[in-house]
Formats: sequence, structure tokens, C-alpha cells
Amino acid sequence: MTLPYNFSPGPAMLPPEVIAQIRADLPEWHWHGVGQGASIMEVSHRSKAFEALIAEAEAGLRELLVIPANYKVIFMQGGAWGQFAAVPMNLLRADETAHYLVSGGWSKSASIEAAKFGRVEVVASSEASGYTRAPAKNEWISTYGTNTHLSPDSMGVSASSYTYICSNETVYGNEIHTLPTGLASPLVVDASSHFLSRPMDVSACGLIYAGAQKNIGPAGVTIVIVRDDLLDRAPKNIPSVFHYKHMAANGSLFNTPPVFSIYATALTLKWIKAQGGLAEMERRAIARSSQLYDAIDSSKLFKAPVAIEDRSRMNIVFDTGNPDTDAAFVKFCDVRGLMSLKGHRVRGGMRASIYNAMPQAGVEALVAAMREFEASR
Ligand SMILES: Cc1ncc(COP(=O)(O)O)c(C=O)c1O
Repeated sequence: MTLPYNFSPGPAMLPPEVIAQIRADLPEWHWHGVGQGASIMEVSHRSKAFEALIAEAEAGLRELLVIPANYKVIFMQGGAWGQFAAVPMNLLRADETAHYLVSGGWSKSASIEAAKFGRVEVVASSEASGYTRAPAKNEWISTYGTNTHLSPDSMGVSASSYTYICSNETVYGNEIHTLPTGLASPLVVDASSHFLSRPMDVSACGLIYAGAQKNIGPAGVTIVIVRDDLLDRAPKNIPSVFHYKHMAANGSLFNTPPVFSIYATALTLKWIKAQGGLAEMERRAIARSSQLYDAIDSSKLFKAPVAIEDRSRMNIVFDTGNPDTDAAFVKFCDVRGLMSLKGHRVRGGMRASIYNAMPQAGVEALVAAMREFEASR
């Protein structure tokens, strides 16, 4: 059976090798060759095998991302939206401000959610551009006092709890390729839609989180990587399942975790390592995205609106400028086995999500369809 190429933004395509392993394990899960008497969906999260699996998943992630020893890895539930709330619940103190960089709908939503818990300031936003770029560092203006960058000596009336960015805005297709440094407060990064598509300097961040359902596994688990010294900021009265220190102290097994999602994520981590790790994921991401952007830029029909330096390698947003032509192209692709290319409902147009599991051949097929469609008009 030949499946279509799946350009879905998430839940998204998983490597065929991972799907094959899941299929093999479905009747009975084998942990390092030892049958567990039940499928992975039926084993206890307190079983020795699952405890070993979650430990192995954490070790695999630590190795891939070179996570320093003073960071905890937590497997949580509630998705990235859960983290929109968990971050301020844990880190935002009553007498402080959380600073948000808004480069798309997800960071905007995160800032609005955080404002339910405390004082929030948007340091810069590229909304006026239609999020066709991420705000440049020199636009990060504090509304307090002098117009200076958000650096330690330029802070306003209240101290900063953290500075928040979304490093890849899935809907609008912009990516922050270089993490900001020299900030007044720990950097918090929503890396959901490009997590493990490139090496990342964990030590430059206070906290990184990512929902699994794009690059690393099925929906259900959210990975949080948090620096030790931030764990003590949380007040006592926040829900246990969102309390980083509590969850970390319990090895992510305080309550029933999303067993299947963690299992599948563990398989994907092994797959990434076997493929050559994050350097290889990055090489492939550059190859895929360059081919697609080159095809768009050399076309007379299709346009990519995002500024070249901020273009996402994962979510390639493009359109023709005419909603009817966009719809016709999406349909044209659909019948050719190129699925889920419709842009997000708030933006329209097209979006090709080309995460780690997308082979170059998928992009080649899409480029061929673009040329054929354009020639037919
Ligand atoms: C960058 C980013 N952040 C947050 C979210 C929200 O994720 P969830 O639906 O898992 O809460 C998404 C969803 O696509 C996303 O792409």
C-alpha cells in the first residue's frame, strides 16, 4: 500500500520505521526482546519495563540535545496550551513581569493566557506585518523608561520573571533561527514545531517545551526541559500535574502518564539517533525547505510571504493571492497523494509542514505538482 505524502502540521507524519515498530508491538509489547504479555496501551506505567522505557527516553533526549546535568526533563500532559498556563503558574511572581515576544498566533495566545496569572508585557510584536517575520532584536523595546533592549540594565519598574518566545510559529511559518542572548531573565521557548529538527543550545534557555505531535511522536505528551534553579519559584497552590518540581521529583510518574505517546516518542528518539542525530536532521531540513522555497521563489504563480531570513524550515507557508486558485491547488495536490496542504484557518493559502519524517521525495513530488499546476493555467 502506498500512502500519500502527509504535509499535516500536527498531528503529523511519523517515520515509517516507527510506525512499523508500533505495528509489531501492538499485539504484545516487547521491551528489549522480552514480551510483556500485553500491548503497550495495556501495561502499567508502574511496570519495570515502562519505568525503564521512560528512563531510556529521557537518556536518549539528553544525548541528542546535549542537555546539561542541571536541567530536568519532564514528560507532561495538557499540550502546549497547558504550558501556556504552566509557565506563568510556575515562574511568574506577583511582584514581577513576564516578557513576551509575539511573532505569531501561538506566542500571542501564550501571552494572553499568561495574563490570567500575573503581569505580562509584550516586548515586541510582528502582528502588524501579518507575522511575515519575527521581530528583530533591536525592536525589543521595554514600555518602561527609556527605549532600550530587554537587557539586564534596561529593565523597568518590576523585574522580569522570564522572557518568552515561540521559536517556530507553525501557522505563519516564521522561525527564530538564533536564540536571543543577554536577556534580563531566563529565556522560555515554545519549540513545539521545530523541536529536534536542529541542534539547540539548551544552556541558553531557562525552559524549553514542545508538544510531541509534530516532530517526535503522537499527540499526548509534552516535553519540558527546565533548569534546576527555576524549580523553586513555583508557589505551593498550583495544580500538582502542572507543578514542575513535583512532576520532576516523581520522575514524570506522579499520575498516569500518556504511556503510548511516550513509548512512540522513545521510538522516534532512537530513529533520530540512528539517522545521524540532530546535525543530520538539520541537514535534511535545510535541503527540504530550500528546495521548496526555491520552487516558490522561481514561480510566477506562488509566493512565500515570510521574510527570507525568518523563513521556517518546518512550516512552509505560501499562496497564489487568490483564495479560489489556492483551493484548486490544494484539491489538485490531494488527488495526487499530497495531503493536508491547506493553510491554517486563520491565514488561508497553503502550508506544507515538512518535519523530520518527511522524505526529500515528498518535497520533490510537491514541487512537481506546483510546476504542473502552474503550467496548466
Ligand atoms: C508552536 C505551537 N505552540 C502551541 C501549540 C498548541 O499546541 P496544543 O494544541 O498541543 O496545545 C501549537 C499547535 O499547533 C503550536 O504549533
